[in-house]
Amino acid sequence: MGETGNEGKNTLSIRDNRTGRDYEIDILEGNVIRAMDLRQIKVQDDDFGMMAYDPAFTNTASTRSTITYIDGGKGILRYRGYPIDQLAERSTHLEVSYLLLKGELPTQSQLDDFVQEVTFHTYVHENITGLFGAFRHDAHAMGMVISGVSALSTFYPGAKDVEDPDVRWQQIIRLIAKMPTLAAFAYRHHRGLPDVYPENELSYTANFLNMLFRIGTREYQPSPVLERALDILFILHADHEQNCSATAMRVIGSSKTDPYSALSGAMSALYGPLHGGANEAVLRMLERIGSVDNIPAFMEGVKRREERLMGFGHRVYKAYDPRASIIKRTADEVFEVTGRNPLLDIALELEKIALNEDFFIERNLYPNVDFYSGLIYQAMGFPVEMFPVLFAIPRTVGWLAQWQEMLDDPEQKIARPRQIFVGAEPRDFVQIGDRG
Ligand code: CMC
Repeated sequence: MGETGNEGKNTLSIRDNRTGRDYEIDILEGNVIRAMDLRQIKVQDDDFGMMAYDPAFTNTASTRSTITYIDGGKGILRYRGYPIDQLAERSTHLEVSYLLLKGELPTQSQLDDFVQEVTFHTYVHENITGLFGAFRHDAHAMGMVISGVSALSTFYPGAKDVEDPDVRWQQIIRLIAKMPTLAAFAYRHHRGLPDVYPENELSYTANFLNMLFRIGTREYQPSPVLERALDILFILHADHEQNCSATAMRVIGSSKTDPYSALSGAMSALYGPLHGGANEAVLRMLERIGSVDNIPAFMEGVKRREERLMGFGHRVYKAYDPRASIIKRTADEVFEVTGRNPLLDIALELEKIALNEDFFIERNLYPNVDFYSGLIYQAMGFPVEMFPVLFAIPRTVGWLAQWQEMLDDPEQKIARPRQIFVGAEPRDFVQIGDRG
């Protein structure tokens, strides 16, 4: 490559070989160029100008963010600068929620106030029970909770005022507080059991377990090990920067819709098996494989691309997902209380084979957060339909932090990607009798 005279400058030189014209574009922090800087590259003055084409946004930054940092090559995940393993070990989900939303860890009194606020907004309007009653007994819990969240927008019409920080904060508290209640009511509906209402003296996860599993008036004591394990899982799932559902939250929120409507859209994005539905898909896959003896045949099918090894691979991580290693450790603690999940042997063997076979090594396919989480959830007594919901409860915090950051970012506008039109040339309408 020849010298351009611009060596050492923080710019990119582009030569358009169609015209022989040269352009110099600024390189910004993060090794990026502004896509709009390409627009000046034209053949004719009245051309639209050049765009970047990036289906699935594999190489496009849509925002500058201060919330979550991932180094996919090194397997690093940090919330607001704090390493995920330190937060998982030493923090609680509500403390991490405060951190994600506010940018700093709370003082004791800030945390007490926050926990108090969340605790006193856990009840949902009785009519939500009526709404859930309209679902079939076997309705998927995720579909029910998505509908419940969406319905909340009709109970809080004031939430439309998204520019008011106080109004916004009130909805953030409500959503964090009510998600476990909606999830538990969906589960009880599925089981044909009456709802158990929130108990204010319990922790976030103990209250959730109580609403799920208490039967009758007998005292239910959630195991402290399971209460803490669920809290750790919630911390690990709280945010993951610009993934499919966070992007959905930002895109929907960019039209200034209320957060309940935006969040139900983000949840719908999470539901798919390539995203938060993967934990359910992993369990169904392990059950289908059934025994360690069937693994070689299954793996041959994966290599022939007849199916995917669910819970493996990640768009960003090209190393072991740091969340997966913490979950694996948590699984051991849970199994001490619940007994070992018999599917664990199949999972461990799948991992062992995958980490040693060329097909997976060449494609950097390592276990992701969903590979072991389902085994824990199942051991704790959750049916598989609850797994994506268990992802959505803590991710609510991440979606809200991303939504808030988007609204406060003066560079953001209503999201509106471009397209390359490759369809029909203009033509005249043909009467139905004259077609074909
Ligand atoms: N099993 C088998 N092959 C795979 C897998 C897998 N799980 N994941 C990727 N590949 C192959 C894929 O066939 C492709 O091969 P080739 O280049 O020869 O065509 C290559 O690896 C790259 O895959 P990709 O689909 O282009 O990668 P992506 O970045 O678009 O997809 C992914 C990422 C997570 C959707 C994908 O790895 C996948 O489908 N994994 C299984 C579903 C899953 O576990 N999802 C949970 C993700 S973590 C939780 C979350 O945050 O959502």
